[in-house]
Parts: sequence; C-alpha cells; structure tokens
Amino acid sequence: MSSKYNLDEIVRIIEDAQNITVFTGAGVSTNSGIPDFRGEKGLYSMIGQKYDLPYPEAVFDIQYFKQNPIPFFELSKDIFSEVHPTICHKFVAWLEEKGKISLVMTQNIDMLHQLAGSKKVLECHGTYTTAHCLSCEKAYTIEDIKDSLMAGQVPYCECTGIIKPDIVFFGEQLPMEFYKAYHMPPKTDLLMVFGTSLLVQPAANFPLKILDRYDCKTILVNFEPTPYDAGFEYVINEDLDAFCGKIWEALR
Ligand code: OAD
Repeated sequence: MSSKYNLDEIVRIIEDAQNITVFTGAGVSTNSGIPDFRGEKGLYSMIGQKYDLPYPEAVFDIQYFKQNPIPFFELSKDIFSEVHPTICHKFVAWLEEKGKISLVMTQNIDMLHQLAGSKKVLECHGTYTTAHCLSCEKAYTIEDIKDSLMAGQVPYCECTGIIKPDIVFFGEQLPMEFYKAYHMPPKTDLLMVFGTSLLVQPAANFPLKILDRYDCKTILVNFEPTPYDAGFEYVINEDLDAFCGKIWEALR
C-alpha cells in the first residue's frame, strides 16, 4: 500500500461503480480554509491557547459548554466566515449528479457538501441548521440564531437558557439516522473515505461496517496514516483536491 497508484485503475473503478458510499472528515474542508482537528495545523494544536480552554476538546464537550459556551461560539464565527466548497466537495456532488452516490456520510458540520450540491448527505455529528434551548428545549432554526453565530456571540432563549445548535458534542448521542445507516448500511460497490483520522468513535465504525458487509472496492485518501489503512485496497496519502481534481478531469 502506498501513495503510488495507477490513475487509470482508480478512474476505471469509479467509472464502473454504481453505488458509492463516501465517508468524509475535516480533511475535505481544509482547502477552503477551515482547519481540521488533529492534522499538522489542526484546531486542537492551537485552540487550547486561543480560547484559554482546559484541554482542546473542551470546545465540543457538553459539560464544559454548559459552564462556558463562549469558545464554541467564537469558533462557530470562524466556521461561518466566507467558506466555499473545495474541489473535493464539488467532485462528490458531481458523482451524485451522475447517479453514482448511495450516501455521503460526513462528520463535518460546515455544510459544504450541501453547498456544493450534494443531497444524499448524512451529518453524523449533527448540524447547525437546527438548535435547541438547553433549558426549556424550545426548537430554533439557523435563521433564528444566525446573527449570533456570525457575531461569535452566545444566543439566548426567551427563557434565558443557552441555545445550542444541534451539533453532537462529546458526551452526546449521535442522531438516530447514523444508527439506522450503521445497522442497515446502504448498498455499496465502492467505499471512498476522504480526509479523516478515523479516530473518533462511533463515527469511524461506519466505514468498517461497510467493509464488513460488502465485498466492495475501497479507496482511502488522507495525508496521514489511519488505524484502519490495512482494510483498504488503495491508501492514498495525497492532497484531496489534487487527487479529486485529477480523477474528475479523467472522468469528464
Ligand atoms: P481529524 O482532524 O481528526 O482528521 C483529519 C485528517 O484529514 C487528518 O488526518 C489530516 O491529515 C487529513 N487532511 C487534512 N487536510 C487534508 C487534505 N487537504 N488532503 C488530504 N488529507 C487531509 O478530523 P476528523 O477525522 O474529521 O467531532 O475528526 C473527527 C471528529 O473529531 C470531528 O467530527 C469532530 C472532532 O472532534 C465533533 O465535532 C463532535
């Protein structure tokens, strides 16, 4: 296994595939300016100092958020600044347009897959599009709290509770849709895993479930090695936009 791969072979595999499942992580969005978490210049290497957090993951920890929601909303402001889909997001959306996509499961909360045009997206770590008051549980939409998100300020409910976007924090359950897809994985003849360290469970178990369930082709593209590289036929340690750009060009 190495980054040396036969481009024609990969192109042929994608050409032949009818039911592609894509599993993505923060690495698909770094080229749009959103840092990943554990990569070389990842959020977790600088977030602790930037927001004076006790430990970097505290920004997504539900217990910490209840005491101090400010770092999360400051970070949200950065996510909501001018960000655009990458070549990788657009390539995945194009594959869907061609009728080849079964499911795009993403751990990301930046909505860039949808912005690129993907519709079959399952956001396994939740979404900013809906939110709830932590005290009275009143439901809100992104429109209701957009101004606060853009300003990096904490949105409050009329009951004075903190409004939290429906993003899955450490200590919270993943959405039911994740477990449905996990227990009944979509039909897959090609699994592509893009830009994830595969270190966060239970999400990282999803591609493993597909590997268990289907005798499918497998391609993993990530700068760094992951704990599950051995299960993939192609492990490509390359920039995702460079990889997707080449393949897309050859397929068009
Ligand atoms: P990580 O930061 O753990 O992993 C991202 C991977 O993408 C790293 O291994 C990078 O080397 C790689 N990468 C970055 N840019 C790339 C590029 N342009 N081309 C190729 N590879 C690239 O992010 P995730 O695996 O997504 O959870 O992290 C999983 C979860 O941990 C996140 O969803 C988040 C976090 O805590 C929550 O917010 C609940």
